[in-house]
Amino acid sequence: MVASSASSLILLCLTVSLLLLLLPLPSHCADPDPLLDLCVANLTASTSSSNFPCKLPSEVTADDFVFDGLSKQGNVTNLFGVAVTTGNVLSFPGLNTLGLSMNRVDFGPGGINPPHSHPRASEIGIVIEGKILSGIVTTKNVYYGKVLTAGQVFAVPRGLVHFELNLGQTKAFFFTAFNSHLPGSTVLPLSLFAAAPSIPMEVLTKTYLVDEDAINAMKSKFVF
Ligand SMILES: *[C@@H]1O[C@H](CO)[C@@H](O)[C@H](O)[C@H]1NC(C)=O
Ligand SMILES: *[C@@H]1O[C@H](CO)[C@@H](O)[C@H](O)[C@H]1NC(C)=O
Repeated sequence: MVASSASSLILLCLTVSLLLLLLPLPSHCADPDPLLDLCVANLTASTSSSNFPCKLPSEVTADDFVFDGLSKQGNVTNLFGVAVTTGNVLSFPGLNTLGLSMNRVDFGPGGINPPHSHPRASEIGIVIEGKILSGIVTTKNVYYGKVLTAGQVFAVPRGLVHFELNLGQTKAFFFTAFNSHLPGSTVLPLSLFAAAPSIPMEVLTKTYLVDEDAINAMKSKFVF
């Protein structure tokens, strides 16, 4: 009796495992899968979903699948000495529904792409020029950092806080790709000190365990 119920249990487990194997593999895309060959975004049409409606097929041209925006160096004359040029669905509508996008990041000497995260995508980047410290912090607050030079590739898991710093005395730049047509970017210093309207002072003083003067000193750096 015991042996028979044990063998039924084994049979049940085997059947369930087999059924699980036969199920389609889960999708690991950050964005939903495309349903059409082409769906060039019509950015002027209103949208209530994460994908833009498609342009009329008769209006699609070869230029919809080409983007020149990353060919030029960005302007790094700013607070951080960095310029992030985005090639996402908003600047490159041909990416609509493809779950892909690319950025170019230029640095002046010593420039920093400050700690930030991409809520909707993992990232892969390749350094083209310069010497860059690339760092990641996990949700357990473990820091991983490495100095990279031309040709080296780095990866950033989705949503994790990360930064890049140009350690060289000359300009530097890299290209990155994302598994989302609109990865989004939360830049920590700007979220905290340059939000509009401002985050209430009491929240910031209690968060950083400092007085209002210290917070105001931080905020004064981020007036644009
Ligand atoms: C984009 O959408 C708008 C509003 O729905 C429509 O009037 C226009 O014809 C569309 N443009 C293209 C190129 O499909
Ligand atoms: C770069 O940005 C700075 C600051 O906004 C501006 O003064 C300068 O004219 C810009 N340079 C170019 C080449 O556009």
